Amino acid sequence: MSPPADTQAALAELHKATDITPRSMPPSFYNDQGMVSEEIEQLFINGWVCVGRADEIPEIGDYYTIEMLGEPLIITRDKTGDISVLSNVCRHRGSQILSGTGNNKRFTCPYHRWSYELDGQLRAAPLVDQTPGFDKKQCHLPSFRKHEWYGWIFINMSGKADAFESHITGLNDYVKNYHPEEMRSIEPETENWPINWKCLAENFMEGYHLTPVHRHTLHPMTPTRLCEKVPGGAGYTGYKSHYSEQFSGRKQYHPDMTEEERSQSMMVWVYPGFVAAISPNSAVYMSITPRSATELQTRWDVIAREAVFESGEAAERLEFARSFNKEDRDRLLDVQKGLASRYASRGYLAPPDYEGTVWDFYHYVSHKLLSTTT
Ligand code: FES
Ligand SMILES: [Fe+2]
Repeated sequence: MSPPADTQAALAELHKATDITPRSMPPSFYNDQGMVSEEIEQLFINGWVCVGRADEIPEIGDYYTIEMLGEPLIITRDKTGDISVLSNVCRHRGSQILSGTGNNKRFTCPYHRWSYELDGQLRAAPLVDQTPGFDKKQCHLPSFRKHEWYGWIFINMSGKADAFESHITGLNDYVKNYHPEEMRSIEPETENWPINWKCLAENFMEGYHLTPVHRHTLHPMTPTRLCEKVPGGAGYTGYKSHYSEQFSGRKQYHPDMTEEERSQSMMVWVYPGFVAAISPNSAVYMSITPRSATELQTRWDVIAREAVFESGEAAERLEFARSFNKEDRDRLLDVQKGLASRYASRGYLAPPDYEGTVWDFYHYVSHKLLSTTT
């Protein structure tokens, strides 16, 4: 199944030209099953997706489990202190091995008690060692290619993506002084929303809606009028969300930060589905993945510098993020409904500082989905 004709035409137009009037994608882009199947394969399985934070598993043997893009995964710290991302599917007859979070010396499947080392090697398979032809080496849990970026763990499921660093060349300059690697998770949450994944990613990453949708939450800090886009790269885009004059800013920042960096949140989108609002002492991030054309999964959290935990503000920061996420969710439920209408059409985008990130994203999608055929 391939994307519908109107979406193909819009992608082809974007792929060929950069000087065309910026318009939103056809509604079928947001509710077609053929489109989402292509996206899952080309953008997500062949790209880099964030599975969480290294600080969620600080000790050897710590693990947590997630399901992403239909795959059950174990994220763990092995005996060497390295992070392993493993398939959570037993090599005997397919049971899921672990659930939740915890700390283990090894992983044991609850079905017939096959056990695995923390790096996924099979350790023991009761009685099966008497089976003719049994080869222990073929029973390693599949392990995924990974890259740690400022504490966020990214994986490439197919093993075919370009190196992570080449995907984000240029982005580190905007992020490094915030030192997100020194922040830690408050409370990761996973939610499913009945909305196309792109609606949420685009919404998180455009400043046009900040003032109208977040009138009493984000607008007093980061109004639409102060958004300033930065140039995007092959695998990312972003903008600076400058603080308003009335907002006193965030203290407890890293000494490396410039004055400008201390008075803005840096908004970054690592394609396809990682988005983050990085402030001087904390960050809200989401790893957004599709579950179907009209359902997304978001695994999201607030991470913060140690001083934010010490001053007792961490819980309040998480509550604040929940409140503006709810404002977004309510709006997006209406958007998804509207996009199913036969009268929905392509709209004109606001200038680059406000919706240029969305325009960058369309170019990335068209490049990825059409580069093999044009
Ligand atoms: S399915 Fe895991 S031990 Fe049998
Ligand atoms: Fe929002």
